[in-house]
Amino acid sequence: MAEDTRATGVPRRTAVAGAVVIAGAAAGCARYAEPAAEAPAESGGGAAEGTVLGAASDVPVGGGKVFADKKVVVTQPAKGEFKGFSTVCTHQGCAVNKVKDGTIDCPCHGSKFAIKDGAVTAGPAKKPLPAQEVTVADGKIVLGSGGAAEPTKEKPPKESKPAEKPPVKGLTSTKDIPVGGGKVFEKEQLVITQPNEGEFKGFSAICTHQGCSVNQVKGGTINCPCHGSKFEVGDGSVRSGPATKPLPYRSLKVDGDQITLA
Ligand code: FES
Ligand code: FES
Repeated sequence: MAEDTRATGVPRRTAVAGAVVIAGAAAGCARYAEPAAEAPAESGGGAAEGTVLGAASDVPVGGGKVFADKKVVVTQPAKGEFKGFSTVCTHQGCAVNKVKDGTIDCPCHGSKFAIKDGAVTAGPAKKPLPAQEVTVADGKIVLGSGGAAEPTKEKPPKESKPAEKPPVKGLTSTKDIPVGGGKVFEKEQLVITQPNEGEFKGFSAICTHQGCSVNQVKGGTINCPCHGSKFEVGDGSVRSGPATKPLPYRSLKVDGDQITLA
């Protein structure tokens, strides 16, 4: 394939992380590795393709840089070789926040991932960080392939980037949701509550503190195992921190006794 010089007049180099995108979360972990961050995560996965992340010169050789707001970490394992990964830790979905000594590190429980391929070098995470395609053009790191790109040394990831889950039909029965309580749907990253009889509410299961998955509804709150944040079953507001923002709402459709995502 020819070099792409369309937009800038300079050749592009695509750097694709070798790790396969993993759509699941680690065993025992309550979530799919979707957007996780301090902010409510209702708007879906990281930044859009084509987003400029920053200057390639900001990414040290043998290290990397976390673009927290874009939910992407870019590394440069060898000079001129750039790789991108999701910042969502595959253990419980916290955001990785540091690149040091050849690894990308998660602050929550200490998981470490290799800068070269996102592979786990230290648990408790068991799965690699999902790859995110990045392109370097004109000294800038851009998300995605940029349309056409030079062949890469490694195969591009086959699977898709973290994305919104499609609505699931007949997710659950209204009978499964206790009045005054709720239920966590790990795969859908969803919590359904029934604060009052016949009133059903849906929330994102992604904790607004550091993106772990909430995993329990008890005592009138939706609870996060990572640092103990609790959210009200009625409106997702914070009952106790460290989270400071409510759980984002997710729309539900109740049809007879069947509840689905709207
Ligand atoms: S080590 Fe990252 S969420 Fe547990
Ligand atoms: S991620 Fe810290 S309390 Fe949920």
